[in-house]
Amino acid sequence: MSLNNLEEIAAFIVADGKGILAADESNPTCGKRFDSIGVESTEQSRRDYREMLFRSKGMEENIGGVILFDETIRQSAADGTLLREIISDKNALPGIKVDKGLQAIKGCPGEMVTVGLEGLDKRLKEYSSFEAKFTKWRAVINIGKGLPTDKCIDLNMQALADYAKLAQDNEMVPIVEPEVLMDGDHTLEQCYEATERSLISLFAKLEKSGVNIKATLLKPNMITSGKDCSQQAGVDEVASKTLKCLTRNVPDELPGITFLSGGQSDSLATAHLDAMNKLGGFSWQLSFSYGRALQASALKAWGGKQENLSAAQDKFSHRAKMNKLASLGKWEEGLEVV
Ligand code: 13P
Repeated sequence: MSLNNLEEIAAFIVADGKGILAADESNPTCGKRFDSIGVESTEQSRRDYREMLFRSKGMEENIGGVILFDETIRQSAADGTLLREIISDKNALPGIKVDKGLQAIKGCPGEMVTVGLEGLDKRLKEYSSFEAKFTKWRAVINIGKGLPTDKCIDLNMQALADYAKLAQDNEMVPIVEPEVLMDGDHTLEQCYEATERSLISLFAKLEKSGVNIKATLLKPNMITSGKDCSQQAGVDEVASKTLKCLTRNVPDELPGITFLSGGQSDSLATAHLDAMNKLGGFSWQLSFSYGRALQASALKAWGGKQENLSAAQDKFSHRAKMNKLASLGKWEEGLEVV
């Protein structure tokens, strides 16, 4: 593939219904995922698992980019091939998570700011030398009594803008991820409000910082009810409220919106994406950047055993294909029966 500039890279990742595989779990998060299948998380088991995903058939045609963790972008497969080369050979672009996680905000109980700007320029230069073509930074917004505060939104969106500018200065596409968490018993309306406040602040700061929006991808949450809310909104309502929030607050010139799954089940994350694409009426590619919703069935089928590799790859390939269809508004529930 020959991609000449950042705008072409951003467009390539989400072209033709393709999306992103988020495989950038930190080692502690990967440990939690592996605990759920009774597998010890070691450098080698994480490598084996991710190699299995990257070599699967589902990568081709469905996945335009893979977000990696620092360990993975440096790792080689069992046969010595760099994992990032396996990704490129599948015609997908390697990307990298560059934030350094969350820190409590003084004076704002229950709220956190994402850190990692210190030394970021140097890290980006190294990742660029590893052929990373895009980057990710995740901010986390909590809904609660009096939350989110303006201060939390302000600090996080400013950090996202500062990061995005540096990523572009280093010739990599930034994915900006302001994640309003599903945790809690809040209503869909509260999620809408917190997401809208975050997006308004984010795009104002991106513009002020001189970030090229045409060379940026947005990774937002969908507008859903909180996990513990007694009134769970249905697929149609999630789709229409999410689109309303995005069309009001995201510039048309942004090339792509790639949702996080945030704890939704894999089929629900697909159904929501499909419903939005069936509704249409927007200019961006509306696609996926799922972690759990792309990996859950493959992780379970793998179970840490070599003999399950091909069954696990089939599970991943199926989910990747379903989500590509959803990005095109062509998914049907009946396709889930395999
Ligand atoms: P989930 O899809 O599991 O929410 O992960 C996406 C991600 O990369 C969060 O930063």
